[in-house]
Amino acid sequence: MDWKVSEREETGDVLVLPLWEGRNKPANNALNGLSRSLVINAKSAFKSRFDSKAGSKLSLWGDSCRVVLVGMGDLDKLSNKMARDTGAKTISSLTKKDGTNLTVRFTTGWTLESMLWFVEGMMLRDYAFVKYRSKDKKEREEQGEWSLNIQASSRYLKELESGISRISGRVEGVHRARDLANEPPNYLYPMSYAEKAKEWATGKPNVKVEVYDWDDLQKKGMFGLINVGKGSSRKPCMVLFTLNPNANSKERVPCIVGKGITFDTGGISLKPGASMDEMKYDMHGAATVFGLMHALYATGHKGRVQAIACLAENMPSAEAYRPGDVIPTYSGKTIEVLNTDAEGRNVLADGLWKAGELDPSYIIDLATLTGAVVVSLGHEATGLWSNNPDLQEKIHQAGNIEDEIAWKMPLLPAFEKEMTGSKIADVRNLGKSRWGGANTAAAFLKQFVPNHNFEEDGEQIPWAHLDIAGTAWGADTNAMVGHGATGIHVRTLHTLIELGN
Ligand code: BES
Ligand code: MN
Ligand code: ZN
Repeated sequence: MDWKVSEREETGDVLVLPLWEGRNKPANNALNGLSRSLVINAKSAFKSRFDSKAGSKLSLWGDSCRVVLVGMGDLDKLSNKMARDTGAKTISSLTKKDGTNLTVRFTTGWTLESMLWFVEGMMLRDYAFVKYRSKDKKEREEQGEWSLNIQASSRYLKELESGISRISGRVEGVHRARDLANEPPNYLYPMSYAEKAKEWATGKPNVKVEVYDWDDLQKKGMFGLINVGKGSSRKPCMVLFTLNPNANSKERVPCIVGKGITFDTGGISLKPGASMDEMKYDMHGAATVFGLMHALYATGHKGRVQAIACLAENMPSAEAYRPGDVIPTYSGKTIEVLNTDAEGRNVLADGLWKAGELDPSYIIDLATLTGAVVVSLGHEATGLWSNNPDLQEKIHQAGNIEDEIAWKMPLLPAFEKEMTGSKIADVRNLGKSRWGGANTAAAFLKQFVPNHNFEEDGEQIPWAHLDIAGTAWGADTNAMVGHGATGIHVRTLHTLIELGN
């Protein structure tokens, strides 16, 4: 989407006017540039039918412009969610058949912050994965992108300009994450993700992407990744991102780790057939990592940030790992595999240990890890576990700012005991029963978070785990998304990192 910021003068093909309840007069400058007949129509709409209640909408057609009055409800009750959602719903209701020059005009009552929320909602929702839908793809190409003109009082224009350029960089990151996660698993597999990452880094001097392929994984002893991925002809790999590799060289910086199972059949512990196609989204953690790196890059983030994507395809075959296997990992700890469908934790074991090598200030992993978290929280919130209450609170707060709810979940010693209670290995990859499955999964991961500098009696690196199995796709209450992958937590982590946390 193209965009520009200007004063309230011209109107474009479509003029969106978001208005507050309880003001039955057109706000100052709201009707600038409209034809006489449209001004009359708009004024009578205000007088009679249109009350600006939340969720209300009214369209007026003139000769050269369509005006859409959007009810925002009570100004005193405005929230970030309300503003973003209304921006998103507004753009999804428009058709490009009226033309693609879209103006959104903010009048009295709007603040810099609330304008940015509204525009962010519009931009986030302006996405569709149409590359394999011949007709839609053609139509989208013919119609072209929206060109958005954001209009406000002149005193806001400078800050709006920089605010929206930040937002648009973040939205690029979110859309990139969605593109990766929506891509079908026959096209997106571990090494094709790695190639996309390499391609992305090309020509960006402050970005480094390194790939550990099959041979590298073998040499390094990353057998968590190897075992999960070896049943597939598409071999596993690890992708390491660094933004601004030369910055903050004497400081600890964040490291974000993503689960990237490009397709999860369950392996030998095969999943049932229903909805198995959705397991193409099982790499959304890795998709968020990629999208986040892009968002940070596009918004000109100056600090060093590291990220790791753990990529594998979990397939049943003669080469596949099996229940009963004991596998070594990069950490040196062994895992008793009791269910090959609990594969995410096996690949993350290597990713978390590798992250520890970078001696980061903290590690955050993102994973579509368990069906159990969807049982707990539905599609409304991500599960958030941490060994560090301060980090956990900061992520929770960043999530609230972005309306990407991350809900605190318990990391109890009893869960750790359950997962380290294997009779024949250091850790078991399955709880003793199905109860609390999202918590036992988190407790498993904690076993692979090293201490700073691997000091035996040292302090464990602050770490948080985001189980995004319920929020990566499928939330029909998420107004930012039409269908498919959500790009969840690109914005949460962007804000967290930007705030210097
Ligand atoms: N990728 C799945 C988790 C998942 C399930 C995400 C449904 C989204 C929707 C994960 O690899 C998995 O299969 N987890 C198992 C773990 C179990 C075997 C302990 C699960 O949740 O059933
Ligand atoms: Mn699985
Ligand atoms: Zn999985």
